[in-house]
Amino acid sequence: MEQLRVDRPGPEHAGELWTVQRAAYVTEAQRYDAPRIPPLLETLDEVRDDLAGDVPAAAAWLGPRLVGSVRGRVGVGRMEIARLTVAPDVQRRGVGRALLTAVHAAAPPSVVRFWLVTGARSDDNRRLYAAAGYRDAGTVVDSAGVELVRMERRRS
Ligand SMILES: CC(C)(COP(=O)(O)OP(=O)(O)OC[C@H]1O[C@@H](n2cnc3c(N)ncnc32)[C@H](O)[C@@H]1OP(=O)(O)O)[C@@H](O)C(=O)NCCC(=O)NCCS
Repeated sequence: MEQLRVDRPGPEHAGELWTVQRAAYVTEAQRYDAPRIPPLLETLDEVRDDLAGDVPAAAAWLGPRLVGSVRGRVGVGRMEIARLTVAPDVQRRGVGRALLTAVHAAAPPSVVRFWLVTGARSDDNRRLYAAAGYRDAGTVVDSAGVELVRMERRRS
């Protein structure tokens, strides 16, 4: 496997990043039979705006190819980890874990807690987050009717 490089993506990466994100979330949409889950409704312009601004973000490249990304949404003292995605053909090689580490490090100093939501039946995702120190903190239902579990951890 080529060397993995993790860096902050810019607006010029929006197209590739959005395409990988859509490919990755198709698996989740199929799992829940819910094609209109929020990540699949996000537009290219919304992604580009995030990357042009000061949103904490990380992307992973294998050689010239962008293979994954993640963004943070900063609130008061907290940051939501959002849109963690890895291209389906390179999953289970540690790219997701590397991206999670990078976006944690990209959080501004005011952030003392991380949180996220993931599909309640997405056992692989929940195991990845639990291994990174996240613990279950309740359930919510998204706009597509999918049950999600909220997970949280201290920044530490
Ligand atoms: C969730 C997601 C980002 C994880 O990405 P990933 O690159 O596969 O994650 P990792 O490789 O870091 O970890 C996943 C598993 O691979 C294992 N793994 C890591 N490196 C490995 C390697 N070199 N060889 C074999 N397995 C490896 C990890 O241990 C982990 O397995 P485990 O949970 O059984 O311990 C990816 O599956 C994805 O894009 N899913 C669809 C979108 C989605 O649901 N995103 C999350 C929204 S909350």
